[in-house]
Amino acid sequence: MKAYTINKYTKDRLLLVDVSSPKVGDDEVLIEIHAAGINLLDTKIKTGEFKLLLPYKFPLILGHDVAGIITQVGKNVKKFKVGDEVYSRPADFHIGAFAEYIAISENDVAFKPKNLTMEEAASIPLVALTVWQAFVERARLKEGQKVFVQAGSGGVGTIAIQLAKYFGATVATTASTKSFEMVKTLGRIY
Ligand SMILES: NC(=O)c1ccc[n+]([C@@H]2O[C@H](COP(=O)([O-])OP(=O)(O)OC[C@H]3O[C@@H](n4cnc5c(N)ncnc54)[C@H](OP(=O)(O)O)[C@@H]3O)[C@@H](O)[C@H]2O)c1
Repeated sequence: MKAYTINKYTKDRLLLVDVSSPKVGDDEVLIEIHAAGINLLDTKIKTGEFKLLLPYKFPLILGHDVAGIITQVGKNVKKFKVGDEVYSRPADFHIGAFAEYIAISENDVAFKPKNLTMEEAASIPLVALTVWQAFVERARLKEGQKVFVQAGSGGVGTIAIQLAKYFGATVATTASTKSFEMVKTLGRIY
């Protein structure tokens, strides 16, 4: 299969190369990738900024956000079948969405909402999980509370505003002037 790789920490472009397709473990599904999100974390791993936290080996296929169609399932997989449309944030050290195929544990995969395109779905997983951890698992955000979202126009911020509004919170945020209208629109969705 074709994949974009890096061979070392670099500021250069990704390399498009031929690599063997991933082997599918018993608990994994193979996903034909239709869309991949580019996350800030990909950039930080690529340049080496995250090497102490996430010491990846090379060559490395980056990509933490993926949407696609299942083409193969491992023998223990219960929840999914070939042909299912899914999206995922693969676990650390199992990333690799900048490729034609990726094998991911079924526990890290979810059905793609039918009202989202592949591109829209691939923009969601890591930023949404980040916000979910902060608002739901840590802060236990409740209706009527006030939330301050720093940098509301970014990947994390746009999801944070929408999720906070969904939970009935009041949101204050920061953005540069070019983003003012866009962040206000996010607050009016719910
Ligand atoms: N992406 C993830 O999944 C993820 C996960 C965990 C943690 N994080 C962390 O969360 C932070 C945001 O990540 P992101 O992915 O949302 O980044 P992003 O999409 O690049 O958005 C960053 C936002 O920050 C604003 N900004 C840039 N420079 C600024 C400055 N000097 N002062 C104030 N605002 C500034 C920009 O908004 P304006 O242009 O409107 O000013 C931009 O929209 C980063 O620190 C990242 O490491 C991200």
